[in-house]
Amino acid sequence: MEQHKLGSTGPSVSALGLGCMAMSDAYGPADRGESIATVHAALDAGITLLDTGDFYAMGHNEMLIRDALKEVARDKVQISVKFGALRGPAGEFTGMDCRPAAIRNFLAYSLQRLGTDYIDIYRPARLDPNVPIEETIGGLADLVKAGYIRHIGLSEVGSDTIRRAHAVHPIVDLQIEYSLIERGIERDILKTCRELGIGITAYGVLARGLISGHWSKDSGRAGKDYRLMTPRFQGANLNANLALVESLRAIAGEIGATPAQVAIAWVAAQGKEIIPLMGARTRNRLSEALGATKVTLTQTHLAALAKAFPPNVAAGTRYAAEQMAHLDSEKPATA
Ligand SMILES: NC(=O)c1ccc[n+]([C@@H]2O[C@H](COP(=O)([O-])OP(=O)(O)OC[C@H]3O[C@@H](n4cnc5c(N)ncnc54)[C@H](OP(=O)(O)O)[C@@H]3O)[C@@H](O)[C@H]2O)c1
Repeated sequence: MEQHKLGSTGPSVSALGLGCMAMSDAYGPADRGESIATVHAALDAGITLLDTGDFYAMGHNEMLIRDALKEVARDKVQISVKFGALRGPAGEFTGMDCRPAAIRNFLAYSLQRLGTDYIDIYRPARLDPNVPIEETIGGLADLVKAGYIRHIGLSEVGSDTIRRAHAVHPIVDLQIEYSLIERGIERDILKTCRELGIGITAYGVLARGLISGHWSKDSGRAGKDYRLMTPRFQGANLNANLALVESLRAIAGEIGATPAQVAIAWVAAQGKEIIPLMGARTRNRLSEALGATKVTLTQTHLAALAKAFPPNVAAGTRYAAEQMAHLDSEKPATA
């Protein structure tokens, strides 16, 4: 697997990363043994970047990663952790806390759960509306100095916040949704990150499985699946979005690849500074995703994809209205 530098100040990471969230039941029940086997298969294939969040099933995901990495030399992987999201005992999200004192507390617990003495990339999951970003990044900069974290990243923030954060301490990457059907970062965020030498770790590259070619009207009924609560997976939106997948399937057929592979290859083709995060939680899905590295999209393929997937083609917003309101990345830039 190719290695790419994450931002101008970051580490070298694999060209594809592995996002572990769905291994902790976000998308319905996950199998623990299969999840760990998937992490091992990813490492064997050359993936070195693992993404998690301390709030993914309230620490479950970090402990799963710790167990999966038991026999793995610490310097062979980069662990990216999101913090700041507050949850209640029923799993409900209750807000954000990105005050420096709170961050120290979150970090102490994450280090313990991960069984490590440092985190490679540590990032607030969302902007805390009650704490100036300068304060949050200042707190993180102290943790870099102390050696507890190696790099600072951001998640789902817009150009103004990115600039303010980067002025306090170099930011290595922005984690944000980007796919054939979610093109918001093309408005200004991608340009801002390129200008400042900040990498992108892209999530939702398969729109959480919606454009993978495996999703159907009856999918997601096996247990509590977060996806069914989001607008793009509901009712008439779902029908419209699944019709788009048929265009992708036709183009993929001409390329000799699967829809998921073409969707991943498309994101990777947008620039070497963009690292797609694979959300695979089984070895089968991972194996398919890895096949994307063998797909070369020609100008003809890219033109066909551009025609079939113009910006704003998706039916429905990417999150429910209440969560959309927390996305600093959706606010227009002032500069
Ligand atoms: N910063 C943020 O706000 C944020 C938000 C969300 C996620 N993330 C991170 O990004 C990672 C990826 O997120 P995502 O779930 O949105 O990713 P995604 O790659 O768009 O979707 C992953 C889901 O698609 C389905 N799928 C079908 N074919 C697949 C294939 N060949 N390879 C991989 N998955 C396939 C799988 O569900 P089935 O197993 O049901 O088929 C899988 O769980 C997460 O694990 C998390 O670390 C960050």
